[in-house]
Amino acid sequence: MSLFTLCSATGAPGVTTTALALGWVWPLVHPDRRNLVVDADVSGSGILPGYTQAGVPAGGGVLALAAARRVGTAEEIVEHAVALDPDARRFVLTGLSATAQARPLGPVWQSLADAAPSLGAASTDVLVDLGRLGHRYEPTPLIEQADTLVVVLGSTLASVTAAVEAVRALRGSRGPSQTAALLVSDGGPYSAREIAAELEVDRLPVIETDRWAARALAEAATTGWRFDRSPLLRAAREAAAHLRDTVATLRTGALS
Ligand SMILES: Nc1ncnc2c1ncn2[C@@H]1O[C@H](COP(=O)(O)OP(=O)(O)OP(=O)(O)O)[C@@H](O)[C@H]1O
Ligand SMILES: [Mg+2]
Repeated sequence: MSLFTLCSATGAPGVTTTALALGWVWPLVHPDRRNLVVDADVSGSGILPGYTQAGVPAGGGVLALAAARRVGTAEEIVEHAVALDPDARRFVLTGLSATAQARPLGPVWQSLADAAPSLGAASTDVLVDLGRLGHRYEPTPLIEQADTLVVVLGSTLASVTAAVEAVRALRGSRGPSQTAALLVSDGGPYSAREIAAELEVDRLPVIETDRWAARALAEAATTGWRFDRSPLLRAAREAAAHLRDTVATLRTGALS
């Protein structure tokens, strides 16, 4: 395993929340792995606010990497991230606070994508929050070099229609086994089974609607038993196991 890139096709279905939830449960599902959540949302609507309160300087994260001019080794990348737990198994690399900061970041995205295999070899999987597809400063290398690209969607007609189109286009350019989907249940009219059929995926894990836990993730207030046992975190565990399986299938397919 190494590079998973989460994105949306339209709206704000919950990419950031889902990426943070997956990052939190990752060491529980994959006990021998660390993970780094990278905020690569060039629209600037990503992870920074709550994690600034948690002690990350506004100029840290990917901006600090850009200033360093050389992204460097896996450990150097992790040094620019903030550890979310005392065991240092969960890290977040914060992103932009405004889209104007995105223009010079192309080389940083390329270097991060190139570094993902060595991070993986150092037991660190990378979970990217790419935000919405189609931005003019889109971090293309994090799409093209992802082991699994994960389209996050809601169950409204607009969300499903846009996701179906995006998944088709991505399959055309990347191959079917590298594109997965996660459904954030938002009370829309279609069932997960119907949406999975439209997307032509065998499994469509559902992320529960859980406002309390979603807010705790946004505010970096990820402590306590209530959080760990919340519906959102339980759903994220299943989704994390599914993502592991997508990569296992991919590798098996590549070997056979
Ligand atoms: N599983 C969930 N349960 C409850 N609320 C959620 C869930 N996921 C996201 N939300 C809420 O929906 C709103 C949008 O979520 P989020 O910021 O994660 O979406 P996004 O797709 O990253 O949006 P953007 O494209 O603006 O970055 C937030 O208020 C968040 O708290
Ligand atoms: Mg977001």
